[in-house]
Amino acid sequence: MSFKDGIPLLKTLDDEEDGSDDDFSVELASASRHKWGRKHLLFGLGLGLVVFVVVALIVAVAVPVALLQGGGGGSKAGGGSTDASETSSISPSVTVSSFSISPTPSPSSTSISPTPSPSSTSISPTPSPSPNDLNSYKPTSDDRQYDFLVLSNSLRVVLISDPKSNVSAASMEVAAGSFSDPPDAEGLAHFCEHMLFLGTEKYPNEHEYSNYLTAHGGGDNAFTSTQETNYYFTVDSKYLEESLDLFAQFFISPLFKNSSVADEVHAVNAEHEKNLQSDPWKLWQLLKHVSNPQHPFHQFSTGTLSTLNNSNLLDLLKTYYSSSYSANTMQLVVYGKDPLPTLTSWVDTSFSSVPNRHISPQTFAATPFPQEYSQKMVFYYPVADTNSLSLYWQTAPLDPYYRNDVVEFLSRYLGYEGEGSILQYLKSESLAVSLSAGLEVSADSFSLFLVGIELTEKGLGRVPDIVKTVFQFISLLSSRSEYSDEVTVG
Ligand SMILES: *[C@@H]1O[C@H](CO)[C@@H](O)[C@H](O)[C@H]1NC(C)=O
Ligand SMILES: *[C@@H]1O[C@H](CO)[C@@H](O)[C@H](O)[C@H]1NC(C)=O
Ligand SMILES: *[C@@H]1O[C@H](CO)[C@@H](O)[C@H](O)[C@H]1NC(C)=O
Repeated sequence: MSFKDGIPLLKTLDDEEDGSDDDFSVELASASRHKWGRKHLLFGLGLGLVVFVVVALIVAVAVPVALLQGGGGGSKAGGGSTDASETSSISPSVTVSSFSISPTPSPSSTSISPTPSPSSTSISPTPSPSPNDLNSYKPTSDDRQYDFLVLSNSLRVVLISDPKSNVSAASMEVAAGSFSDPPDAEGLAHFCEHMLFLGTEKYPNEHEYSNYLTAHGGGDNAFTSTQETNYYFTVDSKYLEESLDLFAQFFISPLFKNSSVADEVHAVNAEHEKNLQSDPWKLWQLLKHVSNPQHPFHQFSTGTLSTLNNSNLLDLLKTYYSSSYSANTMQLVVYGKDPLPTLTSWVDTSFSSVPNRHISPQTFAATPFPQEYSQKMVFYYPVADTNSLSLYWQTAPLDPYYRNDVVEFLSRYLGYEGEGSILQYLKSESLAVSLSAGLEVSADSFSLFLVGIELTEKGLGRVPDIVKTVFQFISLLSSRSEYSDEVTVG
């Protein structure tokens, strides 16, 4: 795809730009006169914004919250994901791909409307295929066998049998994460994730699970996200059955030993100390910091000696676990070499005793960036010696549309690097080095979409132009019915 017409349109920006037509250009101009050296800018647009057609159709409202980041370059989609080699980690963001929203820069543009106009057509999520029929949806080149089960305790399980695989794997997703942290124990969900590795009734030794996997050609990790916590491992296929049983006990009978608490709080704190040298983590926390303090997104999610310094920590942990971990809100995927009936039998044996507490996952209706918390610009000094700009838009939740590829569509168009693309134009003006676009956060009441641009020194002084370029490109896309059609086709 190519947007040949995009270039002349984008170029008009230069002609009209005089630094005085928008509030933000004045601010940015003055900011860029300041001797920043390396810097990050967190930026919110003070403009009436019209949601890009794709988003307008789907999401009702998209409030742009823009982050201008000088330096770092760490704001690419998924920035902040922790290294998979760590024993466990908290994930600052859910990474999917990207999309975008288009505000019109003109002051006369209509402001955001909280609901789609009645006349607009709307896209409904495409229904998922019946999970019982997974094999009929796979590509013909895929000779793995799939099955979907619901155990007697309501645990939903997807099995994948691949006789050619020497390495097996499993992952458990739990529908609770750092949004459920109590205000007096920020980081509790992450701390819980750590504590599950420290012994179960059946396998009481600390790290017995991790040691077993390491000894058998595998490894493990886990991450705590906003509304999910995920645990996963790989292992030599010959040892899958035993590994599954070790793993299942996390969700059946963790010990939560009082004697492990102090050391593990230190481990969590050490992880935080390490994050202080990471631009993606710093940017993530900055974004939280400028959100509505009433929303759980605002809370610090990793945990430190200080945030977990609660005399009732162990009780809080047990309460969190028993109110959030339940077979009916978990999903297991097992990938193994053995035939489906064998995998079924192993899973049934190990996981049927995960308690079903019949809970409903906690939901969070509000959004972290209501109007009064959007339109912000923040500058920060990164750790790394680069300059970058991050533009965030809050949208309605996009997960329900995953089968329509909405996020994919938007990220591909905005992140395109060929002829007529945003990046090509910015490069031709020596303003940017790279660009990425993607979904940064996916929660039940909102998503955050990010366009991250690594800037040149010249680009750092031309941020208003760059922001406009992005918006104009989106306007261009939304004015093209053929691209809109592509979205509605799903
Ligand atoms: C699986 O194991 C066999 C025998 O050890 C080896 O020849 C083959 O390369 C392995 N395959 C993979 C994908 O590791
Ligand atoms: C847990 O350990 C702390 C010290 O590490 C101690 O002060 C506290 O009394 C212990 N709590 C229980 C319930 O054993
Ligand atoms: C933990 O809390 C106690 C009592 O409130 C306080 O004395 C201590 O300094 C705190 N420690 C840290 C690391 O915050």
